[in-house]
Amino acid sequence: MLLPRPASVHRRSGAFPLDEATGLTAPPELLPTAHWLLDALRRPTRLPLPLNTDAPRRIALELDDALGPEEYRLTVEPEGIRVAGGSRAGVFYGGQTLLQLLPPDVYRAAATGHAPRWSVPAVTVEDRPRFAWRGLLLDVARHFMPKHALLRLIDLLALHRLNVLHLHLTDDQGWRVEIRRYPRLTEVGSWRASSPLGAAEDAPDDNRPHGGYYTQDDIREIVAFAADRHISIVPEIDVPGHSQAAIAAYPELGVTDARLGVRTRWGVNPHLLNAEESTVAFYRHVLDEITELFPSLHVGIGGDECPKEQWRQDARTQQLIAERGLADEKGLQSWFTTQLADHLGTLGRRVLVWDEALEGPLPDSAMIASWRGTAGAVTGARRGFDVLSCPDHLVYLDYRQSEQDDEPIPFSIPLTLEDAYSFDPVPAALTAEEATRVVGGQANVWTEHMDSPRTVDYYVFPRLCAVAEALWTTGERDFGEFRVRLQAHLARLDAFGVEYRRPDGPLPWQTRPGVRGKPSTREEWDALIDRLTAGIRTAAPTSPPARA
Ligand code: ACM
Repeated sequence: MLLPRPASVHRRSGAFPLDEATGLTAPPELLPTAHWLLDALRRPTRLPLPLNTDAPRRIALELDDALGPEEYRLTVEPEGIRVAGGSRAGVFYGGQTLLQLLPPDVYRAAATGHAPRWSVPAVTVEDRPRFAWRGLLLDVARHFMPKHALLRLIDLLALHRLNVLHLHLTDDQGWRVEIRRYPRLTEVGSWRASSPLGAAEDAPDDNRPHGGYYTQDDIREIVAFAADRHISIVPEIDVPGHSQAAIAAYPELGVTDARLGVRTRWGVNPHLLNAEESTVAFYRHVLDEITELFPSLHVGIGGDECPKEQWRQDARTQQLIAERGLADEKGLQSWFTTQLADHLGTLGRRVLVWDEALEGPLPDSAMIASWRGTAGAVTGARRGFDVLSCPDHLVYLDYRQSEQDDEPIPFSIPLTLEDAYSFDPVPAALTAEEATRVVGGQANVWTEHMDSPRTVDYYVFPRLCAVAEALWTTGERDFGEFRVRLQAHLARLDAFGVEYRRPDGPLPWQTRPGVRGKPSTREEWDALIDRLTAGIRTAAPTSPPARA
């Protein structure tokens, strides 16, 4: 009943009793994993579980060079348990699987009543992930999620052997990370006066301020907590669209003289950043602080949904396009992206951009997050870019979960558990050679219609369990077989305290009666995505990369 399903499981007779005679051993380099596992086992069992003593029966954590980097072999025998990994991450995943071999109550924060006496069935599990990037994007800009919710989510990602939390930190509706050099980004940009109630174009304003941000110490804490769980936090600072919160804080970043507040409506925004050298310098400074805080190799700079009308209408922008020898506004966006990508390069980092970036030339080192169907993954891989697959119709967990009319604020097309399970990060159109560019995938959680961590639970689980298996498990997968394992897995989520969607729909308090959504049919949606991606389904741009 393991989830995600491991590569191989061999059950034997007998079991390892977890009791007062049990200890744990680990070499110095595995002590962080040892402390994590001891904490996970001690809290629900109240056992002493001494570390590195000559306890009669031991759980031994070991590194094994013969195993691949994230690979592990978990061997449970009545006399002892070995968790061998090709790296610290491998040992950690073996530890996660060990927890899943125990009753669901292992996911409780403390023992219920009597300290339980559990045993681990004798088994050998050999396992490794299919993809290196197994992620979840959480949009903390549309609705701020408090720090405790991120720490809890990180534990839930780790339980599913996911290893990336992509944090969408800035957008039109809020700026969520402290930048020392530019304090107004959070003083002004981290709150808005009102939010639309629902997804309809004419949704009423709720007239209720919303805000919040992470201090730099909050970020350091989140990053360190995630690192102990082998999760990399990938920050995203969205430019040159989705930037109205920054423009509200520093109006000199905008194209027009209009005084903009932090945006209080959803949807694609006409207001862009201007393309002055000073604006690029501003964002270089922001990225300097972001890269100090976040050690991840990849740093997102967005680039999505950037309507060019404002640049087209603006004389100064047109002058910049001409001075820089660029063809048009798309060329200007490429120029902007390249400036920041090059800066990240000097800091030893690589840029992550949404698939709109394929409309223009891009630095070779860019990774493409393909979200509008699979067009970006196909074009990106064929053009030789690293590709991160997150096709909206399969892994946008803000999309409605069924056709039922009690789904809260129903948005876009139905995206069922079975749809999420059918996700394959490698589009069928790619050759085996092209497919090697696909580094993995992630589910994306945009939070316009999720105003609290409780609501995030409803949208994310159990669909994320299905995505996790799509990213981890190698070989044939079968939804019927998954559903049987998921049934057992939901008991783990219950013990953990996850308010997932029940198979038959929302609980009464998970509905939002009277709040209108914006549902689409599949036909409408496919036509929209086809239209939006027409510009990236063609051959590579012919103009040379725009470099300073
Ligand atoms: C996106 O969903 N705008 C990347």
